[in-house]
Amino acid sequence: MKKLLILGASGSIGTQTLDVIITYKLYDLVAITVGNRFDIVDEIIAKFPTVKYVTIKEKNVADKYQEKYPNLQFYSGNEGLLKIIEDSKADVVVNALTGFAGLLPSIKSLELNKILCLANKESLVVGGEFIKKLLKEGKGKLYPIDSEHVAIAKCLYNKNINDVDKILITASGGPFFDLDKNEFKNIKVEDALKHPNWSMGKKITIDSSTMMNKAFEIVEAYYLFDVPPNKIFPLVDRKSHVHSLVKFNNGEYRLQVGPSDMRIPIYYALTFGKCDNNDKFDDVEINTFDNYEFKEMNYEKFPLINYGKFIIEKKGNMGAIINAANEECVYEFLNFNINYVDIKNIIDKIVDVYPYIKNPTLDEIIKTDHEVRNLVHELI
Ligand SMILES: NC(=O)c1ccc[n+]([C@@H]2O[C@H](COP(=O)([O-])OP(=O)(O)OC[C@H]3O[C@@H](n4cnc5c(N)ncnc54)[C@H](OP(=O)(O)O)[C@@H]3O)[C@@H](O)[C@H]2O)c1
Repeated sequence: MKKLLILGASGSIGTQTLDVIITYKLYDLVAITVGNRFDIVDEIIAKFPTVKYVTIKEKNVADKYQEKYPNLQFYSGNEGLLKIIEDSKADVVVNALTGFAGLLPSIKSLELNKILCLANKESLVVGGEFIKKLLKEGKGKLYPIDSEHVAIAKCLYNKNINDVDKILITASGGPFFDLDKNEFKNIKVEDALKHPNWSMGKKITIDSSTMMNKAFEIVEAYYLFDVPPNKIFPLVDRKSHVHSLVKFNNGEYRLQVGPSDMRIPIYYALTFGKCDNNDKFDDVEINTFDNYEFKEMNYEKFPLINYGKFIIEKKGNMGAIINAANEECVYEFLNFNINYVDIKNIIDKIVDVYPYIKNPTLDEIIKTDHEVRNLVHELI
């Protein structure tokens, strides 16, 4: 059996990945990483005796676990996220970290020729050019875990990318799609955390409400499928039944429909896109999916979505600027330090003032991330 490492095993995607590998007996889980929710480590070690390597964010916590489990190897911090990729000798890495923290582990996994199952879309937003270069050089392999991108990959099955007229990435529209824009200033944290159809980590849930998540998914599609940005569009499906669509040059559409269950795209990535199997997910009656109703994206209400194509057009450190500003704003909003509408205002301001670098080194991307976060705090 192939060996698996899960980065971010305590999160929403991480725990669902654990569920998939235990249900379908897919891998030997050899290594995991967690952040602050380290309570889950005992449970995972008990359930998966093959785990031999663990990274925990805080050093003092990792040290305590090392004493408790002397036969396992514990690491900590950002270095621990990289060291475990090398030492565990995993064949496959699931990157289910949130935010910029996922970038270097994605790069390291590919450099070491691993198969990378990528939920951490921020890796492509901030470092898409670096990842593209590694893949072009034949380093590693990449499979997406995002439901929309797995849907697109399924629609492209046996098709040529040159035959694609449009990729339509579906969006639920989030909790505020029907809310008057004048009411946005009154949005509370608990309102923004109510995603209509998916249960996810807090950061992506807020990004889904502002449409920054959809902006990032446009960038993700650009890098994953090598299609020009003028062929990628968002489309609203309020019920999240259609996970995305592809329109081909001959007028044919393909769309992928199914329950809002992340275990399906996780399974797809973990089996490297092989759909010819009998493993079954929940049975859903066909009439659950009737009455498709697509709506246009409202760009005026959700202007952050425009940053998707902007990041692709500018490249350089623009993805890092926008991602860092967004991450900090989302965390400050979740901590009740700024209002919902400030998220957009602060990001716009940072994009205006922070120096753009056309051909940054990886160190400059890291520096950008660091400086933009500080700048957000100065502005607040
Ligand atoms: N959830 C979904 O349905 C979904 C769907 C599509 C794509 N995605 C993408 O998948 C990624 C993960 O999302 P999620 O919803 O699973 O997030 P989540 O529930 O917040 O989990 C994130 C994981 O990353 C860990 N982590 C975060 N920052 C870290 C750091 N600095 N150092 C070490 N570990 C860190 C967390 O540790 P602790 O929690 O222990 O602190 C947790 O294990 C995101 O990029 C998201 O956009 C998610």
